[in-house]
Amino acid sequence: MTSIHQPSRRDFLRQAAAAGGGAVTVPRLLAGGTLSAAGLAAGCESATSRPGQSSSPDLATLTTPTDPTDDAWAAVRAHFILEPGTAYMNNASLGMPPGIVAEAVADGYRAISTEPLHGKHDLQDRITQTVMPALAQRFGAEISEISLTRNATEALHLQTLSLDLSPGDEVLITTQEHPAGHRPWMVRAARHGVTVREVFIPSPLVSVEDVISRFEAEITTRTRAIAFCHVTRGGHRYPVRELCTFARERGLISLVDGAQAVGQFPVDLHELGCDAYSASMHKWMFGPVGTGFLYVRADARDRFAPAFEPGSASTGTEYAPPGTADFPVRAALATSLAFVDRLGLANVDARCRYLSNYLKDRLSELDGCTLLSGPEDLSAPGSTIFQLDGLDAMASVPLLEELAQTHIDEHQRDGHDAIRISTHVYNTRAEIDRLVDGLEAARSL
Ligand SMILES: Cc1ncc(COP(=O)(O)O)c(C=O)c1O
Repeated sequence: MTSIHQPSRRDFLRQAAAAGGGAVTVPRLLAGGTLSAAGLAAGCESATSRPGQSSSPDLATLTTPTDPTDDAWAAVRAHFILEPGTAYMNNASLGMPPGIVAEAVADGYRAISTEPLHGKHDLQDRITQTVMPALAQRFGAEISEISLTRNATEALHLQTLSLDLSPGDEVLITTQEHPAGHRPWMVRAARHGVTVREVFIPSPLVSVEDVISRFEAEITTRTRAIAFCHVTRGGHRYPVRELCTFARERGLISLVDGAQAVGQFPVDLHELGCDAYSASMHKWMFGPVGTGFLYVRADARDRFAPAFEPGSASTGTEYAPPGTADFPVRAALATSLAFVDRLGLANVDARCRYLSNYLKDRLSELDGCTLLSGPEDLSAPGSTIFQLDGLDAMASVPLLEELAQTHIDEHQRDGHDAIRISTHVYNTRAEIDRLVDGLEAARSL
């Protein structure tokens, strides 16, 4: 156990106010309670925040970090515009784009509002000539295999609802699907008589072989497809390549929910061998909110009938809902992709792992903490889940915001009352220290 200094309530407020520029709210939740928050303000100063600064550092100033330490990533952190004093650790829910991406969206809106005709055409050109090729290149696909969507949920609906299935056909999904992956299958079951069966997968995952054998045990002669997450919302990383090979060898279609995977580590869709893959760009890929894509492998296209009139999408996206789209937001993906390329996804992977390993080390010092994330080959680098005796996961979210100005999430599923911490490249060890002290303080209230 680390020894924890017990500051007075006044100490806490003074430290927090000093670090947060007075932005901290008086912790109502502490009224009448015993304060035990230690050094909660440590790390409150945000290298991401540059109040009053009107523009973010230029992409040209971004150098590729050579090692995963905070020092090496400090310059990257300066590209983000998170409010002063806040530590954001809920990237698995919604990520934070760098300032230049927010500016690219604003610039696009300005252009289209100043002169709509050329503004629109310019943005469409940017989407077709820059965003689509960059996406295809980044994810190892052909441009024609990618359709832009507003998020992973939309892509998951499109991939599930367009799959060619007959009444009585069977599909295997897992017990760990996100509602965005689960609900469209319920629609197929109710409307089209498809039998949807859930393969139980334990949390944490046991091994690659265990996941495969659980699918194997459920296959019947009526099974046509398997659908599963690349990374679950709890951060469990599935053996996608092995599952896709398993599916292909049995003549089954493989559909993957990649919402939590893209942006945390390199993803090559052709290499994975899946037939369909749905992604969010606004979680780990530094994309503006409202961006995602659907990938349908060229050879599998005859198994997926587009829900919309093919060719009616205005930016060359076969499966996407047609019509006028949020062009400024989509065009700004060019900036996100350039940012990611500059960092290198392998470096992002190493940085995220470095931070979550530090978090796991710190958590291991807490009495009554049960880590629920699997080993490195079965877990994503950025998301960590754990239970802490004496702290209700749901209650921990507002408590940590109040006590430590730290945004986290709960993970009350798969039989757990877990807390989820999802750290991205811009978080720091000092913020993790502050979080851990905040957890101790929260459970001692
Ligand atoms: C595994 C998984 N799939 C799908 C989604 C939905 O993603 P989006 O918000 O981009 O629609 C989420 C969101 O948290 C998720 O965790």
